[in-house]
Amino acid sequence: MSNILAWVEGLVGPWLPTFLLVLFTTLLILNVFEGRPKNFPPGMMILPVVGSLLSMPFGPSVEMLRGLRKKYGDIASFAIFGNRVVMVSGPKLIKETFSSKSTANHPDLLFGSARNIMITNGRTPNIGIIATNGQLWQEQQRFFLRHLSGLGFGKSSYESLTTDEIAEFIDVLVKEGGRPIEMSHLFHRSVINVLWALVMGKRYPYNHARFNEMVEDFFVPADFNPLSPDQHIPHIFKVIEYIPTHRNGLKSLKKVCSFIKEEIKEFMTNEELKNGDNFTALYLKEIEKKENPNFNLDMMEGVIVDMFIAGMEPTSSTLTTAMYLLAKHPHVQRRVHEELDEVVGKERCPSFYDMESLPYVQATIQEVQRAFNLPKFSLPHITNEDCKIGGYDIPKGTWLLTNLDDSHKNPEYWKNSNEFDPQNFLDENGKYKWNNAFMPFGTGKRICTGEQVAKQTLFLFFTHMMQKFNVTLVKEHSPIDDTSPLFTRPPRYTASFTCRSTCD
Ligand code: HEM
Repeated sequence: MSNILAWVEGLVGPWLPTFLLVLFTTLLILNVFEGRPKNFPPGMMILPVVGSLLSMPFGPSVEMLRGLRKKYGDIASFAIFGNRVVMVSGPKLIKETFSSKSTANHPDLLFGSARNIMITNGRTPNIGIIATNGQLWQEQQRFFLRHLSGLGFGKSSYESLTTDEIAEFIDVLVKEGGRPIEMSHLFHRSVINVLWALVMGKRYPYNHARFNEMVEDFFVPADFNPLSPDQHIPHIFKVIEYIPTHRNGLKSLKKVCSFIKEEIKEFMTNEELKNGDNFTALYLKEIEKKENPNFNLDMMEGVIVDMFIAGMEPTSSTLTTAMYLLAKHPHVQRRVHEELDEVVGKERCPSFYDMESLPYVQATIQEVQRAFNLPKFSLPHITNEDCKIGGYDIPKGTWLLTNLDDSHKNPEYWKNSNEFDPQNFLDENGKYKWNNAFMPFGTGKRICTGEQVAKQTLFLFFTHMMQKFNVTLVKEHSPIDDTSPLFTRPPRYTASFTCRSTCD
């Protein structure tokens, strides 16, 4: 201790007493001296200052979180330094908890803040949809959803635009002639093209060098762990550049942000796009109206980067995993082929309107999402006022985790929870059956803004590919990996797509 004090004294000189006072006051404000509050949910030991880190110095692992659920039931707690975290489990309590206004905030996350500082050159850490709260968040989220449907999302014009993109994607696969394809980035470009037709009114061709370079080392959500203790040190985002373990993630984020900056610059000089029917053009018009200062260029860039990151990676990873699981389960693939042949045939392309008549296909897509279990604990939330959850008192500022992992894997809620089995979404007559425990897009006030876009994109890519191809696994580099605490990593493999008779 005396060594540390001598070192600090060397740094701050005669300001040492002031420094210690400021440090003590900051820690007091951050609540780190308080352990477990009264009537707080049961869980790991919570000590002042370190929280539960004596028993988990690197933060909780997936096994620890699963163990907490087993030991304490629907509500369990731990703490990382002064940040208390409550994990909420069980579909009923999850839905009840996250439908409330008190739980609708996201905490400041290291990479969100670092990204926003990067985009705005330090002006603000709060832009976009994912990293804003309250009125700021609500205005941006509503604006996006309102204009998405205004621009034709969910209507047949949007579907035909999507199917044109998929037709080109399928052509490329046909031309490969069954040669092994490395799957890691196969879907990224086409998935973003479907969304970008609405967002920026443009698409990227196969040989777009800047896009391809950016996607090459694009991160997956599992690369980020908001439960790692270093991410809970206040203002750490300001020095993130100097932390070696975060360099790769930061480099990848920087590439995405500078790509979008360039795209916006180009957009601004293109009169046709600026006057076109797309989200960015509408946003610029909203800024020009000058009615609400919260609509500005920084905010627009934040929303577009959110759409790019949140829109591209989860949908692409899910499609990559879908092809992997079908290749691994040929009997499921055969049944999908049979249903598509019976209902759609080979003369026309599948449409979103076929969904109801394709119960096995619908069940298979949802089973892919359940088995993959991409957002195991969703994005963390934080309480914005004192509230009650499951009869316990939860103070303002408590982090909340949504235990989707348990909802998707607990045998209490599923016929066959440990296997990849579309029967999990079918009744005894083979009819599609909704399951209340299924929440891959989260639930409540902060449910995924792109849920409908994602559902339609998954359905159309999946059905068009299965109508045309048999998929087989050529080489498995790594299986689905769920060791990262909050998100699952998709499998890495090469696959071969051979034409069925429906290819011509
Ligand atoms: C299979 C694909 C997808 C999955 C599994 C997924 C899942 C999720 C989850 C679990 C959340 C966090 C919810 C919470 O905070 O409780 C989320 C948030 C979000 N997603 Fe998605 N998502 C997908 C596709 C998309 C697409 C295509 C878009 C863009 C159009 C998108 C945009 C967003 C945004 C903007 C948020 C933040 C919402 C907010 O903070 O209010 N997502 N997503």
